[in-house]
Amino acid sequence: MPLPPEIVRLIAEPLCLADNCDRAAAAKRHGQLEKLLHFHAHRYYVLHQPLIDDAVYDQLFCQLLDIEAAHPSLRSSESPSLRVGGAVLDKFSTVAHRLPMLSLDNAFNRDELLAFEKRVQDRLGKNTDRRQSLQYCCEPKLDGVALSISYENGLLVRAATRGDGRQGEDVTENVRTIPSVPLRLQGDNPPQILEVRGEVYLPLAGFIQLNQRAEQRGEKTFVNPRNAAAGSLRQLDSSLTAQRPLALCAYAIGFIQQGKGVTTADNHWDSLQQLADWGFVVNAERYHADSIEACINYCQQLSDKRATLDYEIDGAVIKVDNFSLQQQLGSVARAPRWAIAYKFPAEEAQTKLQHIDWQVGRTGALTPVAKLEPVFVGGVTVSNATLHNFDEIQRLDLRPSDTVIVRRAGDVIPQIVGVALDKRKPQSAPYSEPRHCPSCQSAVIKTEGEAIARCPAGLTCVAQIKQAIKHYASRKAMDVDGLGDKIIEQLVDQQLISTVADLYTLDLTTLAALDRLAEKSASKLLAAIEQSKSTTLARFIFSLGIREVGETTANSLAQYFGSLDAIAAAARAHRAPSKESADSVLLGVEDIGPIVAQHLHDFFDAENNCSVVDALLTAGLHWPSAFREKTEQQPLAKQVWVLTGSFDTMSRQQAKQQLQALGAKVSGSVSKNTDVVVAGSAAGTKLEKARELNISVIDEQQLIARLEQYRAL
Ligand code: IVH
Repeated sequence: MPLPPEIVRLIAEPLCLADNCDRAAAAKRHGQLEKLLHFHAHRYYVLHQPLIDDAVYDQLFCQLLDIEAAHPSLRSSESPSLRVGGAVLDKFSTVAHRLPMLSLDNAFNRDELLAFEKRVQDRLGKNTDRRQSLQYCCEPKLDGVALSISYENGLLVRAATRGDGRQGEDVTENVRTIPSVPLRLQGDNPPQILEVRGEVYLPLAGFIQLNQRAEQRGEKTFVNPRNAAAGSLRQLDSSLTAQRPLALCAYAIGFIQQGKGVTTADNHWDSLQQLADWGFVVNAERYHADSIEACINYCQQLSDKRATLDYEIDGAVIKVDNFSLQQQLGSVARAPRWAIAYKFPAEEAQTKLQHIDWQVGRTGALTPVAKLEPVFVGGVTVSNATLHNFDEIQRLDLRPSDTVIVRRAGDVIPQIVGVALDKRKPQSAPYSEPRHCPSCQSAVIKTEGEAIARCPAGLTCVAQIKQAIKHYASRKAMDVDGLGDKIIEQLVDQQLISTVADLYTLDLTTLAALDRLAEKSASKLLAAIEQSKSTTLARFIFSLGIREVGETTANSLAQYFGSLDAIAAAARAHRAPSKESADSVLLGVEDIGPIVAQHLHDFFDAENNCSVVDALLTAGLHWPSAFREKTEQQPLAKQVWVLTGSFDTMSRQQAKQQLQALGAKVSGSVSKNTDVVVAGSAAGTKLEKARELNISVIDEQQLIARLEQYRAL
């Protein structure tokens, strides 16, 4: 390739970097190099149209590194040298997303896509009194890791993983190493604040190369590109991330605060072009559809094209194109109403059933697990499949040594969907249901109408004790780092612990004597156990493993009651609703119905559970007072909002109350501390002031949409 003259000059005129040389000349050269390198990296990584050879790029890059080595102060926050990484962290800190990162509802066939459109039309019809002809934007659904990247005045300032949708991990340094992520937005007039959402993924070629390298070094290989991308993004040493060939595909503007003279798109399709203009890769397979039929065709065509793409996709995303319609549609629970993921049919393969293992769960439920001859399906090697319950075994008419059809889609646990009857051994007999617990031999019970057999021995059954402790130590519960399954099994088998509270009686000598636990790891584990004493009420409730009390319910309970005593009291006082009364405080809590309420009652009514809870408190478990916990967890905590003008669908007072209920402070005047101004009709000076101070301004419709999104969390 012929070299552009400015590059010829840079290469031909080496720069003096000795101590006594001119710093100004170095700064000038650094500026030139920075610009050139960004330009050519964009040509290469984003547009895939390089203008210079790799070797020339490397030569310029080395010059830049030399200059920065001689003059470290020239290394700016947008220097291409950041692409090689270097920052090493102890752990990732948590960042709150400005707006929640939602997920998507799924559709698996044409009818479900048609039903999606009907829901959209019905809803819009009701809200607007007229049916709109709907336009859609269709895109491949990349199978990677969702990321949010924030820019302030055009400069990349933060990148975060999706996490729980409300807050994620700060992976800024790692994301700076991804070559297709702009460190500075292109164009002269960037928005003041821009949050871009996209998918970080490993192109297939990169994935294969990564696994080959791992194999050569005798290291563990990754099961699929998505896991490899997730693992690469979560390296504490950013120079390791830099060595992984990660890429970003931007698929939405998450948040934008304009600034003077910046115009933004009013539909998704145009916003993708806008993202491309700012320097992002947007998907080349995106498609503007003017009917749901066109979307359905797109899904079919994309499915045909799937095998030729250089990245993994698990479906298509169909989005209502117009932003104001998106806002009217809002979101429900964790997903927007204006978009849907069409998922490709799952892949299937045949393999041999080796045997059925009966596993005893935390609540004594006996679950059959099919042990299979390993088979590659849907991108991973499968050797286990859950069978749910005995009815499922009967329904499938499974017999020993059958050849079974295994199906796996996306992240879903592999399933057995049928038996290849032509391959069945002639004399095989059906399985029978176990009558005794495989762990403690107690006779199992099966309640009328329930498909699941249970071991009734509760916390006297070793299998259930182990499961309860595993749950207690798990990441979303007490997050005891280093307390893995194998260690828990040894501790219980050697009768060193029999309840979760016993964990806090362990000492270094006991732990260091365990198999696979060197003294250093033992002392780390001890510290992690100690650290787990400081927790939150919601986590604590969740970690107790009360039947059907998951994370969300535990959160609701903590928020509603504010203290453990109040929860326990309400649970004990609960009486099943009868015709005469439904007098139960528990039933007034969001997410709690009669079944969960009964489980809560049973848990706190049982003396042995209460003594474990007491023992935990005596061991020193504690959490912040309810009030602090409540406000800090609220989605709008620490935000200052101002309301101005009048609203159509609610009074200002109502809007204020709703915002306050989500943790926001609602102030009467606009200042530089204001986060958002909501302007109704006839808004006056406050709106002017907000514009002057460049504060984000939204209208009533946007407020309604946001309130709905936040409440969904
Ligand atoms: S839009 C509110 N577009 O799919 C809508 N998501 O369940 C937000 N994903 O984890 C998502 N490709 O990271 C959208 N073209 C695309 C996508 C996409 C992949 C992922 C996304 C999220 C999941 C949604």
